[in-house]
Amino acid sequence: MFNAQLDQLTDYPFQRLTDLLGGPATPDSLVMSIGEPQHRPPALVAQVLAEQAGTWGKYPPANGSPDFRAAVVEWLNRRFTLPAGMVDRDRAVLPVAGTREALYLIAQTVITPGQGKPLVLLPNPFYQVYVGAAVMAGAEPYFVPGHDGPVSVPDFTTLPDDVLSRVKLAYLCSPANPQGSVADMDLLIRNIELARRWNFVLCVDECYSEIWDRAEPAGALTACAQLGGAMDNVMVFHSLSKRSSVPGLRSGFVAGDVALMAAFARLRSYGGAATPMPILAAAAALWRDEDHVRENRDLYRAKLDLAERKLGNRFGFTRPAGGFFLWLDVGDGEKAALELWNKAKIRVLPGKYLSRGDVGDRYIRVALVHDLETTERALTLMAQTL
Ligand SMILES: Cc1ncc(COP(=O)(O)O)c(C=O)c1O
Repeated sequence: MFNAQLDQLTDYPFQRLTDLLGGPATPDSLVMSIGEPQHRPPALVAQVLAEQAGTWGKYPPANGSPDFRAAVVEWLNRRFTLPAGMVDRDRAVLPVAGTREALYLIAQTVITPGQGKPLVLLPNPFYQVYVGAAVMAGAEPYFVPGHDGPVSVPDFTTLPDDVLSRVKLAYLCSPANPQGSVADMDLLIRNIELARRWNFVLCVDECYSEIWDRAEPAGALTACAQLGGAMDNVMVFHSLSKRSSVPGLRSGFVAGDVALMAAFARLRSYGGAATPMPILAAAAALWRDEDHVRENRDLYRAKLDLAERKLGNRFGFTRPAGGFFLWLDVGDGEKAALELWNKAKIRVLPGKYLSRGDVGDRYIRVALVHDLETTERALTLMAQTL
């Protein structure tokens, strides 16, 4: 009765966590398992949504509004130092209802099931949606560990030709969930050149690009600019969920290769969720404002300072270059998650649920998404418990 590919998927990590801990979170638990920012959303969200309430009665166009796309292009040009005209407002940008659905649907856009035993390259550890996307599109996921030790991002250029010849799609996440490592410009350039040489699509998930500690992470579109300005074979994914602490707004965008965008738009016109007009307007206002992003980043930085003080040189603690997760080596991630839950009511995610093989088994992922006070309480308890 059901699609047999579903049998290849494990339960979603949060369901596995609920099973491990014997039930869901309770009102008194400290939930650090999910990357759901709890910082106060910028006031302009409610303000613009109220102003635009008259447009709830309209079916939104699948490609959003010209103003939304213009706000995105302005932001991309500013943030990634792109030459004017490189990103075409009307052909190279599409709004998405959160990047999760886009990361999922891009596999359906690119993969022809069964044809030439297609492979999808994924980082290991990874954001779980990449696996679901690859499997449900009828491809085989091919997991690639960090190129410079377990905490780094992968470099697909190290793969042999017999693998690369079957690759149709590759996901790269920078800053990476869960480890917080960042791909530098050389790595991005090398991997874009590789995608072009072997003619596969390189999806660069940059949804944590604005949450950084000491240095602004490099972006794949800057790499394209340095390679001459073409965006062939490349697509970037950006989200307001983390940048602007509005995971419930469900708003992000994709940008890149115009041929790929056209194919993606075609698929989404059948099965994608268009972003409502009031949300497009609020999103445009958010992409045009950097003050709230700076404040947000400072708050994450303060929490990293706290983590450094509380956890210091234990559990292989290193300050993540980007994102808001701690990726801690606790020896046995499931055991530590159980202990933290049973003794301290803290929920964290075992690294095993975000990886294949034994790559993540020793780790837990801790999301620093709460206010400073709650974070301090949780980290103190965590250090005492483990
Ligand atoms: C690496 C990564 N990519 C994409 C997403 C999806 O975010 P959203 O759908 O809210 O844009 C997440 C959310 O946790 C994530 O961690």
